[in-house]
Amino acid sequence: MNELDSELVRGQLTSLGYQMVEEDTAAQVVLYNTCSVRELAEQKAMSRVGAVAARKRAGEQVILGVLGCMAERDGVDLMRRHPQVDILCGPAELDKLPQLIDNVRRAQIAEAQALTDVDVGALRAGRGRGVALAGNSSRRSATLSAAEDGLESLDLSRAFDPGAREQPWSAYVRITRGCNKFCSYCVVPYTRGAEVHRPPDNIVEECRQLADAGAVEITLLGQTVNHYRYTHGTAMTVAGREAPQIGPGLRAFRGDAAPVARTTTFADLLRRIHEEVPSLARIRFVTSYPRDFGLDVLEVMRDSPRICRYLHAPAQSGSDAVLARMNRGYTIAEYEEFVARTFAILPDATLAGDFIVGFPGETEADFEATCSLVRRLPFKNNFIFKYSPRPGTVAIDRFTDDVPDDVKRWRNNTLLAIQTETSARVHASWVGRDVPVLFDSVRGRASSAARAEPGTVALRVEGQSIAAPAPVTWQVAGRTMGDLIVSVAADSEASARALLGQQRVVRLESAHALLLNGQIVQ
Ligand code: 5AD
Ligand code: SF4
Repeated sequence: MNELDSELVRGQLTSLGYQMVEEDTAAQVVLYNTCSVRELAEQKAMSRVGAVAARKRAGEQVILGVLGCMAERDGVDLMRRHPQVDILCGPAELDKLPQLIDNVRRAQIAEAQALTDVDVGALRAGRGRGVALAGNSSRRSATLSAAEDGLESLDLSRAFDPGAREQPWSAYVRITRGCNKFCSYCVVPYTRGAEVHRPPDNIVEECRQLADAGAVEITLLGQTVNHYRYTHGTAMTVAGREAPQIGPGLRAFRGDAAPVARTTTFADLLRRIHEEVPSLARIRFVTSYPRDFGLDVLEVMRDSPRICRYLHAPAQSGSDAVLARMNRGYTIAEYEEFVARTFAILPDATLAGDFIVGFPGETEADFEATCSLVRRLPFKNNFIFKYSPRPGTVAIDRFTDDVPDDVKRWRNNTLLAIQTETSARVHASWVGRDVPVLFDSVRGRASSAARAEPGTVALRVEGQSIAAPAPVTWQVAGRTMGDLIVSVAADSEASARALLGQQRVVRLESAHALLLNGQIVQ
């Protein structure tokens, strides 16, 4: 989500004439897009902001902005700590960024033109800053203003040209923003606001334009992506187009909601993109919420060969007691039922997720239940996090962070080791199959066999010892439809690079814990 936000901001500023530079020391405007999910991410961002602030204190003229969740969550305090920060812009306000930069620039010019002392004083007191935060009203304002939602225009105005993305063949498309789940540990519902669903026509059109511009893979994004549901004929239309819409509430997924007029469900949306944008080789989606994953979605996936059978559906814990305190809204039995249903309909699916270890009150037995789940279910990988208490969340107020950090670290490493064994089993089960792989990275490695050959011993020239250049073997890596990493040997760097962005059928020949090796057969 943050990567897409950064891409949209880059595109928006580039279209206004700003140029991107490689090093922040060469920039006149430095913007940090931040994440608040864990404290460590905030600390890293804070130290980078601190470094630029120090340069400004030393007299450097640069506009410094902090964007994203950290600005929203902690922006005012951040400005207090670093008064050199000129701009704060929350994730729900990014469309306002050019205006904010413009205001700061005007204020700086005015200051440089030596206004009266009174004017300069006012500017220093904050008038020359740009602040756009949803603040406490983030949830309410999302409800009231979805129809004239400026963020929708940011998504719609994205730069479609492939140069806007690091991997031109692959693109993200947001389908929902925000989250209504309120897991007790999580800041997202506060920083990104209420769940808002984009109109399906806008999403399909964005996919089509990206495909026309060369994208072969689209990843649909949402915090709870499978909650996507758009009810037609209720949201206000703007210039004949449907507008983003507040999520329908969880009742809609539990079968007890009154039947509504015409809706586009997540399954309908997947089917539409699959049918209406045939040049896309791959349609993926993240992140799924393990509850409310309807049979209809699994059936569309089964019937649509270009939809990736990859589910990132975080379990977060293997203990029902911890899940209840996390307010996750499902039990482990329900999670396992969801996984069993998925594999019954999609036998070639892959499963991945996230776990938090050391949540308040997590006992040895709770942790053992998590280990047991990771041993039992075929997770291809899991991101594992140590619980990090976040200000403003329910967990920090209601529970004591009582698992010591060394225990959290031990549990993290232990679970990682178990996950590595599970990953190895999942990868090994794929050996022998022929599968499409979309190539996305090239790696050159000094060949150890070649280094051992006598011909490559050091040469001596005019008394200097010069190592003969080590011969390099080239590998090109990519991902299967199920997001498994596959590496293939290439003859040269050029032949490896020629495969980037291409999808080929690879025969999988051997497996390691984290990747497969194979050969291109088609
Ligand atoms: N502490 C640790 N991990 C967290 N996550 C979200 N909030 C926290 C927190 N306070 C993890 C969850 C989520 C992922 C994006 O980050 O596992 O799925
Ligand atoms: Fe956070 Fe839970 Fe929403 Fe995911 S579903 S973004 S963990 S509140």
